[in-house]
Amino acid sequence: MKEKLLETAKSVLLKNWTGTFTKPAPNLYPHQWNWDAGFIALGYAHFDWPKAKQELRSLFKGQWSNGMLPQIVFGKEKDAHYFPGPDFWKAHEAYAHPKNAVTSGISMPPVHGFILWRIFQIASKNDLKDSRAFLEEMFPKVKKLHEYFYQYRDPKNEGLVYIRHPWEGGTDNSPIWDTVLRGINPAELEIPSYKRQDLQNPEAAKHRPTDLDYDRYVYLVDLFRRHQYDDDAIYKECPFLIQDPLFNATLVWSNECLIKIGQEIGAEVAEIIHWNELSIYSFNEKLWDEDRGIYNAYDLRNEQLIPVFTNSGLMPLIGEVPTQEQAEEILLKLESPHFGGKDDQYFLCPTYSLQSENIDFQKYWRGPIWINMNWLLYQGLLRYDMEDMAAKVKADTLQLIEEYGFYEYFDPRKSSTNNLACGTNQFSWTAALCIDLLMEA
Ligand code: DGY
Repeated sequence: MKEKLLETAKSVLLKNWTGTFTKPAPNLYPHQWNWDAGFIALGYAHFDWPKAKQELRSLFKGQWSNGMLPQIVFGKEKDAHYFPGPDFWKAHEAYAHPKNAVTSGISMPPVHGFILWRIFQIASKNDLKDSRAFLEEMFPKVKKLHEYFYQYRDPKNEGLVYIRHPWEGGTDNSPIWDTVLRGINPAELEIPSYKRQDLQNPEAAKHRPTDLDYDRYVYLVDLFRRHQYDDDAIYKECPFLIQDPLFNATLVWSNECLIKIGQEIGAEVAEIIHWNELSIYSFNEKLWDEDRGIYNAYDLRNEQLIPVFTNSGLMPLIGEVPTQEQAEEILLKLESPHFGGKDDQYFLCPTYSLQSENIDFQKYWRGPIWINMNWLLYQGLLRYDMEDMAAKVKADTLQLIEEYGFYEYFDPRKSSTNNLACGTNQFSWTAALCIDLLMEA
């Protein structure tokens, strides 16, 4: 059973391999995406070390001179149907855009530090010299990315960085963004004309974000390109400036792993230690919700917390941000009817509280289970020795993949008569993280 699943997972990655990078999925996502590439590299590290390195090298070829690592590095495929493409982003007008790559103009959750450390642990068993050389090559690039976030996205110097677009958070139509996005009213604004391509995908179309969501996404991109991606100018005008717990949790875990990498290769890490201490301190001071036992997001534009129950609020576990006591509160949340961890009717872990009135079990980031979130949650639970819940998250994850295939996301309802598979099939990070879960030591 395990062997078959493993072989199929590998074949998904190899089918999506373009020769220089791996597409997140064959049709819907035809270019290279930032955090996808990180998870994909981890999958490859278990069976094809050269491709793991190439995946990250290809992504970092798109790194901007100010350190920003773009959400998309566009591939060369001429007939790739994707909106927004390079002509819409106009990111090449930015002073920092690289000369030898074509990219979008926002970033994504910085998973690369912890991915790098983890792939080193896998690859060093076979080739210590080469895997250490790869750490040496990548360390300054990942550090520069973190430097970008702390320099340009942390205006109050509190160690919590903001995102300025839902796509940057990676959880495109998460309910976390709702209140802020409601303030962007397309009927009153000039929205450039555009044509969605994602609805051409017959499998995924009904689960995708709405047209109203897209108008708002496009409005923000237009604002960025008007300012030619100048961070200070965007900060002054952008209505969407959010400190997101998932995004900052990936930053913290990656900081921690960069510190370990620096120690491994003899590089200076004092600055990273300082960043990370400040981030963890502010996370708990500002985003921890004592009453609800979960981390909130914060709307920096309107200076208010965003108390919405999503599983992003559980993710600080990965960076050991919570104390043991706080982590136990988080575990209680996971077991509670919000996430259904003690209830046999649901697979873990829905992205949005099961008790939310407007949960949509099949719509993108508004309820379904995503495999990367489950993988992160699993790692976080292990850090606190919460073995039983971790084992349940892992078992549910593998069961969904085994029963339904390598889908993009899954309806959590065990009793549903619907097919639980959602979005597009042959999804690369589902395959990559399945490989990691099956192969972990
Ligand atoms: C999309 O186009 O759906 C992506 O999620 C943006 O990153």
